[in-house]
Amino acid sequence: MAIREVLRMGDPRLLQPSAPVGDLRDPALAALLADMRDTMRSLDGAGLAAPQVGVPLQLVIFGLEHSPRYPDAAPVPDTVLINPVITPLSDEIEEGWEGCLSVPGMRGLVPRWRRIRYQGVDEHGASVDRSVEGFHARVVQHEVDHLLGMLYPMRIRDLRHFGFMDAFDAGRFPGAGSGLR
Ligand code: NI
Repeated sequence: MAIREVLRMGDPRLLQPSAPVGDLRDPALAALLADMRDTMRSLDGAGLAAPQVGVPLQLVIFGLEHSPRYPDAAPVPDTVLINPVITPLSDEIEEGWEGCLSVPGMRGLVPRWRRIRYQGVDEHGASVDRSVEGFHARVVQHEVDHLLGMLYPMRIRDLRHFGFMDAFDAGRFPGAGSGLR
């Protein structure tokens, strides 16, 4: 296991669509997953996608225990999601603050589907099929966006709501100092 370098925004590899994972028994996949877990934990992230460590495969991990750093966030189970598909469950859009390990130190207000179903498999080939809302839905959409070559700043509607986390006025922008990353 090892901590891998996380690519930062500007690296063209973050803009490329990823390919589906073919062989779940490939030992390189297990090694990649172990490294991604180590890397995410070392950086205190809520999620990480394989292309962020330079591997263009449809594999993301995410999870968040209840934490004082994310006081408004319901816990999200530790999840490995391979070859994911997202289906919105309503037309409702919600704005929320996001950060990203590939965009360190910054936060932005990002519109996402409020309720989604997501499907895929885990590293053992077991089906993952959940209907979720709110923060959980946001985390999944953020991570799956990485597999499409999308970074959250590309979805911000009003760039006045994009900036350095420690520069936002916490009174005017509650949540800008924390949020997903
Ligand atoms: Ni990200």
